[in-house]
Amino acid sequence: MRNGLLIQNAMMVLPSRIVQGDLRVINGSIKTVAPQGGLQPEIGEYVIDGTGLHLLPGAIDPHVHFRDPGHPEKEDLESGSRAAAAGGITSFLDMPNTLPNATNRTALEAKIASAAKKAVTHHGFFIGATTNNVSDLQSVEGMDGVCGIKVFMGSSTGDLLVHEQKHLEDIFANTGGIIATHAEDEERLLSRIPEFQHRTDIAAHAEYRDVECALIATKRASALAKDHDHRLHIVHLTSGAEADWLSSNKGDLITTEVCTQHLTFDQDDVENLGVRALMNPPIRYSEDKEKLWSRLKDGTIDCIVTDHAPHTLESKSVGFPKAPAGMPGVETSLPLMLTHAMNGKCTVSDVVRWMCAGPAKVYGMKNKGSLIEGFDGDLTLVDLENDRTIQDSDTWTRVGWTPFAGRSLTGWPIYTIVDGKIVHSRTKGGKLRGNAVASPGSVGRPLIFE
Ligand code: DOR
Ligand code: ZN
Repeated sequence: MRNGLLIQNAMMVLPSRIVQGDLRVINGSIKTVAPQGGLQPEIGEYVIDGTGLHLLPGAIDPHVHFRDPGHPEKEDLESGSRAAAAGGITSFLDMPNTLPNATNRTALEAKIASAAKKAVTHHGFFIGATTNNVSDLQSVEGMDGVCGIKVFMGSSTGDLLVHEQKHLEDIFANTGGIIATHAEDEERLLSRIPEFQHRTDIAAHAEYRDVECALIATKRASALAKDHDHRLHIVHLTSGAEADWLSSNKGDLITTEVCTQHLTFDQDDVENLGVRALMNPPIRYSEDKEKLWSRLKDGTIDCIVTDHAPHTLESKSVGFPKAPAGMPGVETSLPLMLTHAMNGKCTVSDVVRWMCAGPAKVYGMKNKGSLIEGFDGDLTLVDLENDRTIQDSDTWTRVGWTPFAGRSLTGWPIYTIVDGKIVHSRTKGGKLRGNAVASPGSVGRPLIFE
């Protein structure tokens, strides 16, 4: 690729307004943001005509499970990063429940080295907490490419679990940075098994892993954060009750997120989609979905994520309750949210706030998430003029399916750009899957967290 990149005539979604104009990236950074006609091509510059497209900061997905190492049949850093790029995501944060679990410095260094060879986007990794690895958690503090500590307070996919108070206290008392909790209460989960073990209808999932289960753990994690003056991020909020409670209790130490699927699906979708919609914490009820929207709009919820958690259709085919929990989403989240915006549920600027600036702020990613001169040249140009129906065969995730199959979505990225380099492209009329442009490892860096 030539030296600089110039995008002309795009509707630019700036932090405070949307204006038609031109944007130049030089040496990987946004050099100039100008009104339409303000920038003319220079010799050797690659020029994109952004007419009819919206230019957004590259989206950041701070919650994905790319299964590397351990489950290449589900995903690896190459296929996951490609899927991210196809969806306009230019930075991702990957979870530690891999095989082996990422619970020490060696494992984290290996993931970062692997991403350097395989990824086409920027990347960061969580270290997983166990009942006895505080010194490992300490050993990666402040390391580039390491975004925080993940604590599974309730059992989910894999065997990472820390639920006893003494272990949680130890972690909160003796570590720095951000602790991200999967907040479901293990004791309640265990105590309710007898009541639910005979149920084979999928509606039982949300009844079993109920709102109370999530609320107990959310309150417990919040108390630990306050007692130890520790930054806490509560991942995938699912219930109106948690969102309401956090709105008056989160303070400055606590941030939280919601998944696209919890903003989109409810009990009827679970019924229709079956095990494809099985995840932890569960898809809940329409009242929860609407409350999550309102707490997103009032600022209680800081950002939107996917919890991209691919499982093969073969492994899902055993049906409920044996099927593994989790669904892919990294390549559909931005079009899905932009479709919500075009349907009047929110604005395009809201989507940028929740999927670009929001995650950058939560995790302290410098110079990311906004179209501002001096910020990194991570961009996506999306088409809000056409609706296109996605099918399983259009996906880049290795599992080859999407819970949104059959849905008509707008906002498909035409170009995804990382550090000023095109990593994925599609045309308005060509195949929806589009084209991988960058070769693995040629673009993307370990993220730096302040
Ligand atoms: O549904 C889920 N799937 N929830 C989790 O907490 C983990 C994830 C996975 O890794 O499959
Ligand atoms: Zn997750």
